[in-house]
Amino acid sequence: MNNNNGQRWLTLDLLKAAEGHFREKGLEASRLNAEILLAHVLHSTRMDLYLKHDRPVYGEELEQFRSLCRERLKGKPLQYITGEQFFYGHSFLVDERVLIPRPETELVLEHALDRMAVGGLAKRKKAAILDIGTGSGCLAVVLALKMPNAKITAVDLSGGALEVAERNAHRHGVSERISFRQADALNNGFANEVGGEYDVIVSNPPYIPETEWSELETEVKEYEPKMALTVPDRFVFYRAISERASLLLKPEGLLCFELHADGARNVLEVVTGQGFGEMEVHRDYAGWDRVLSGILIRSGVH
Ligand SMILES: C[S@@+](CC[C@H](N)C(=O)[O-])C[C@H]1O[C@@H](n2cnc3c(N)ncnc32)[C@H](O)[C@@H]1O
Repeated sequence: MNNNNGQRWLTLDLLKAAEGHFREKGLEASRLNAEILLAHVLHSTRMDLYLKHDRPVYGEELEQFRSLCRERLKGKPLQYITGEQFFYGHSFLVDERVLIPRPETELVLEHALDRMAVGGLAKRKKAAILDIGTGSGCLAVVLALKMPNAKITAVDLSGGALEVAERNAHRHGVSERISFRQADALNNGFANEVGGEYDVIVSNPPYIPETEWSELETEVKEYEPKMALTVPDRFVFYRAISERASLLLKPEGLLCFELHADGARNVLEVVTGQGFGEMEVHRDYAGWDRVLSGILIRSGVH
């Protein structure tokens, strides 16, 4: 990426040069990548790049932009470079300690909010909600924003993830209503450790079998936390979460979680076996079963 004098670029020319460079190296959405990185370096919006197309870029800004372009070409996800991802219209801080929130997970939130509205849970004065495997805190924080009277407990095994989630709660002004706990959902003592009685439990648990790890994109494999994604056995979290949920939910409480794209049938059996009924499966825009929810009919032994 050199212009004629090697030192000074005009914004639009730099954008075009970076786009060409990315395209040559086979990076998809080359223009968008260049725009996001340059806007990040210049602390501006993508629109500003065009409105101020003749703003000169040189010195430290130019060096930083070049360095970020190199990181991007090595496969580092844009969100880890800029430190931000939008989820349900809200900006979340992300780094390599947390999974980058995915658009599919917005369906978990939508579905849970819909079922809470139908079941009258949303109107309860102080709904108690548990988010298992909170990661960046995206589900917990948006639920807190949508339900101003709710109290939320957000749990993760990763201390690093909890730090990021707490920062996000603070950023969105909901930290007083979310308590963060480090706990292992696969541990038999989880229900006792976390305690409480909940109206709703949501979770986007790890669900990719170890055997599928090698098939994932480099961006995911090399940068996202493996513990956020993989499991030795596809059902281990669904089994554990529905069992713990049968102990932690109030009667008629709602359990709602994200599914691996290739089917809900077996998970449905696991969950109904733990005393849940009125099961619903919600598909994503590509037609894959994506969210499963159910109501606690028969509580587990407390
Ligand atoms: C798929 S990520 C979901 C993160 C976030 N809720 C989201 O939807 O973007 C799963 C999360 O579960 C956490 N996790 C993994 N194993 C766990 C365990 N045994 N107990 C509790 N949390 C666990 C990971 O650290 C990760 O943050």
